Amino acid sequence: MNKPLKIAIAGLGTVGGGVIKAMQAGDNALADRAGRRLEIVAMCARDKNKKRGFDLKNWVGDPRALVGTDADVIVELIGGEDGPALALVQEALTAGRHVVTANKALLARHGAKLAILAEEKNLALKFEAAVAGGIPIVKALRESLITYGVVAVRGILNGTCNYILTQMEATGRPFGDVLQDAQKLGYAEADPTLDVGGGDTAHKLALLAGLAFGTAPEIDSMAVQGIAHITPEDIAFAREFGYRIKLLGIAKKTPYGIDQRVQPAMVSAGTPLADVNGAFNAVMADADAAGSFFFEGRGAGDAPTASAVIADIVDIARGNIGPVFGIPARSLISLTPTPSGSASSAFYLRFQVLDVPGVLAEIAGHLAEWRVSIESMIQRGRAPGEAVSIVMITHETTHASVGNALKTIAASDKVIAPPCMIPMEAR
Ligand SMILES: NC(=O)c1ccc[n+]([C@@H]2O[C@H](COP(=O)([O-])OP(=O)(O)OC[C@H]3O[C@@H](n4cnc5c(N)ncnc54)[C@H](OP(=O)(O)O)[C@@H]3O)[C@@H](O)[C@H]2O)c1
Repeated sequence: MNKPLKIAIAGLGTVGGGVIKAMQAGDNALADRAGRRLEIVAMCARDKNKKRGFDLKNWVGDPRALVGTDADVIVELIGGEDGPALALVQEALTAGRHVVTANKALLARHGAKLAILAEEKNLALKFEAAVAGGIPIVKALRESLITYGVVAVRGILNGTCNYILTQMEATGRPFGDVLQDAQKLGYAEADPTLDVGGGDTAHKLALLAGLAFGTAPEIDSMAVQGIAHITPEDIAFAREFGYRIKLLGIAKKTPYGIDQRVQPAMVSAGTPLADVNGAFNAVMADADAAGSFFFEGRGAGDAPTASAVIADIVDIARGNIGPVFGIPARSLISLTPTPSGSASSAFYLRFQVLDVPGVLAEIAGHLAEWRVSIESMIQRGRAPGEAVSIVMITHETTHASVGNALKTIAASDKVIAPPCMIPMEAR
């Protein structure tokens, strides 16, 4: 057998701990797959005294000291888009070490630059665990779905949001209450902003778009909306219309450029994405003439992410280095975002209004001014002078038209809360 592949690991939390335990458990089987033994020669975290459930062998004092060891591969599992993670990855590549990371925030921000650094030195920079945890979607987009090109990727990429939306639907309880439960159960962070605000999905989507379209990952131009404004009423209406609400990351080719967006969307009930429940993740990739491919699985947790990290390590052990985003990093093109508001779809609209004469005509009038036509409408009950909800599904129109109409409608004294608009996804 070839000489062992030497590995140094920075970060021994959920993912790092999972990697060490899985490597110890799968030692021989992994060596058969890799064609050589995988040997952990150094590890580090912040606190040496923390109980972690495995032996701390070959501890070093700080992440950058890992670069001073004889490791062939540095595994970055610290997290964060800058700070120690960025410093470690840059130094590791500069010093000629392969890198494996699960850090989507780092790569969404610095991916193109780091990929150039890696490729100039013929090094691997692998990140299977950074997108959708255990689902092998990075490899699929980078190496498999390449013949006809991918024209669209849609994903449920954040398990916390999908868990919350699934629970809201099952219990009828509001977002805030379900979030608190999710925090108690460990499905949501103490500070849930990055998850429920859509930022985490945006990081992952930027990487999927880079792999699918050969674009440098780009998040600043992405339209990002989270799920905090979704109400149990929206979920109940969605069901009535034959839809479920999911937080989707969507990247697709359009005649005007690449449309990348993170948004809650109405997904037709009974389609694969609509049926993804709880903390699961899923990705639907449209590979043009080759058809659509659907991937579903666990997007987080120690074992699924360790499975993805170790698959990357085994790839390196076998000599599968290849370009980081599937094409040479210097050929990655700057993403041309679609003009703001140009994307089109049908929309679900909900208005919280005072039940007074003329309110419906006023709303319909403003929608008509912006050429938004209504396919169906529900108004439940009557409560003269009190608040009621009016819900509409529009025909296909642009985000800009609906956005402009809603701005005017929101200014009416009969409308007592900001209107809610949710695009309908055809599949
Ligand atoms: N958790 C998941 O399911 C999941 C899924 C996919 C991707 N990821 C990504 O994987 C990465 C790690 O996530 P995680 O959930 O494993 O995080 P975590 O449980 O918080 O672990 C982070 C680790 O990094 C160590 N660390 C933090 N700052 C450090 C520093 N300055 N120097 C040395 N070590 C430092 C911590 O040390 P101490 O233990 O001593 O505090 C801890 O061991 C992140 O990029 C995350 O986005 C996570």
